[in-house]
Amino acid sequence: MRVMTQAERMNRLPKQFFATLTRKVAELQKSAPDLINLGQGNPDQPTPPHIVDALCEAARDPVNHRYGSFRGESYLREAICSYYEREFGVSLDPAREVAILFGGKAGLVEVSQCILNEGDLALVPDPGYPDYQSGVALAGAHMEYMPLLRENDFLPDYRSIDEEVARRAKLMFLNYPNNPTAAVATPDFFEETVRFAKRSHTVVVHDFAYGAIGFSEKPVSFLATKGAKDVGIEVYTLSKTYNMAGWRVGFALGREDVIESLNLYQDHAYVSLFGAIQRAAAVALTESQASVRELVDLYRKRRDRFLQTLSDQGVPVLQSQGSFFVWLPVPEGVSSESFTDQLLYDEHVAVAAGNGFGRYGEGYVRIGLLTDETRLYAAALRIARMYHRAARG
Ligand SMILES: Cc1ncc(COP(=O)(O)O)c(C=O)c1O
Repeated sequence: MRVMTQAERMNRLPKQFFATLTRKVAELQKSAPDLINLGQGNPDQPTPPHIVDALCEAARDPVNHRYGSFRGESYLREAICSYYEREFGVSLDPAREVAILFGGKAGLVEVSQCILNEGDLALVPDPGYPDYQSGVALAGAHMEYMPLLRENDFLPDYRSIDEEVARRAKLMFLNYPNNPTAAVATPDFFEETVRFAKRSHTVVVHDFAYGAIGFSEKPVSFLATKGAKDVGIEVYTLSKTYNMAGWRVGFALGREDVIESLNLYQDHAYVSLFGAIQRAAAVALTESQASVRELVDLYRKRRDRFLQTLSDQGVPVLQSQGSFFVWLPVPEGVSSESFTDQLLYDEHVAVAAGNGFGRYGEGYVRIGLLTDETRLYAAALRIARMYHRAARG
């Protein structure tokens, strides 16, 4: 049999930077049972029981055993719209401004297939969530990176984008609360984004995966900005808000022609999500939100104790404003990867090297606060010990 030649687009996919870390951690875990893995972004808490119960009940309903509606069930689209109205003050049309997704990740990759032709240009944050790049690469488009710098509060500086690049950019990805920097966006920044997008005719995709997890203030939806629905969409997911990462439920909202294009793509690729999952998702969005408040309080407590411990040990930290990450600067003159390796092998704490999220992530590591407070406290002490050793050289 002849060897299969993969389509060119598959060869364009970026290398999975974190696969190496996952392999190293799995290998070390065999001999180091005290290893604390803070390298990933997988919520550690279970889905609230009333949502699981709704799934179990709906799974027994034969209606959900047949093919469902393309584009998902109308009750879920309505639940999504009432959630957005209630939580973010954004009104949406359930028929025309909602696309149900198999998790945010699917939509973030699909949107590039909907909008970009080969050779087109997309603006991507650096550091940033790697899947934006995967979608752009599959579409055969080019990327221009928008540096997220500490001196700009980890927001892109539109004034530094070349006029020609802005004119060519068909698509732009943003994400606040931000993975990996834990920064949040302000209403002013989103207004500036709308102005930039109108001027350059760029479609904005705001990834609002951590929309429920803000510490000083509730995170703002991009769609709450005047004119946002004319220029872009927001992608939301139930993965973090309700600890439903394994369930694969998300949605895209906003600009009608982009939503229609995503729905059209999905008409050809899938029939929508399992009906019982759609039922449970509607329950999550419309019933008591007490579990969400408890979850945010839990992450706040973890963040406060973790950062306080590092500070008490003399490690300079950045305050996380949202998400469940800490973005920690490593000592001057030490690379992200060597810090990560030393921390893993000498102190048995796994964190993600910042350069895995892009060139401007160099000099940082990302720490996921996704284990209990006692282990996080132990990890903070080990990180501090390692930090001072690395700083001494
Ligand atoms: C910034 C960001 N966007 C999107 C996602 C994808 O979430 P999901 O596909 O589970 O909805 C994640 C998950 O880690 C994320 O961190």
